[in-house]
Amino acid sequence: MRILPARVDDIEGIIALNDRAGLEPWSRRSWQSYIDSDPWDLELARVGLETVMVGFFLGLQSGPDYELLKIGVEEGSRRKGIGTALLNRSLERAVLRGCSQCFLEVRAEDEGAVSFYRRNRFEIRYRRPAYYRNPVDDALVLNRGLIESMGGERAE
Ligand SMILES: CC(C)(COP(=O)(O)OP(=O)(O)OC[C@H]1O[C@@H](n2cnc3c(N)ncnc32)[C@H](O)[C@@H]1OP(=O)(O)O)[C@@H](O)C(=O)NCCC(=O)NCCS
Repeated sequence: MRILPARVDDIEGIIALNDRAGLEPWSRRSWQSYIDSDPWDLELARVGLETVMVGFFLGLQSGPDYELLKIGVEEGSRRKGIGTALLNRSLERAVLRGCSQCFLEVRAEDEGAVSFYRRNRFEIRYRRPAYYRNPVDDALVLNRGLIESMGGERAE
């Protein structure tokens, strides 16, 4: 498995995988604008001589903060560490960009995703009541510091 930046000809596959992962649909034009486009990071996990896309993440630098906007893994490829590898790559990108923390939002009732982030050392900071629609749900805002100590040790 390798994690590589997305290319323009990956967009159809990303849109389909985003849908299959149950993530909010975004327009083709939006996805296109994230390819090779600072301050966005759109990268894919590929297997099988890099021909098959099994996961992706989309991150965005916002000043000293990094926001992990989307992360998804193909259902048949879950619980094999691919999500963690994608998350770690996004944190590497954040550190390279000089960010000091990573934020993300998750549906409060999505126990699997919340467990995944907690397992990866994210902490729940606050709740946005009824933030999501279809179905209505609260958003939990989680973060993780990227500079682990005053000595400057970085996230893995
Ligand atoms: C969340 C998601 C990206 C995790 O990807 P993954 O490749 O399965 O994650 P990993 O294999 O790296 O999981 C690492 C650990 O996280 C935890 N975890 C992951 N998925 C979990 C689940 N559904 N339920 C409980 N814990 C889970 C486990 O502790 C797991 O370790 P284990 O398998 O040894 O028990 C994936 O389930 C997914 O794409 N879900 C649909 C989209 C989504 O919810 N995205 C996040 C929305 S904000």
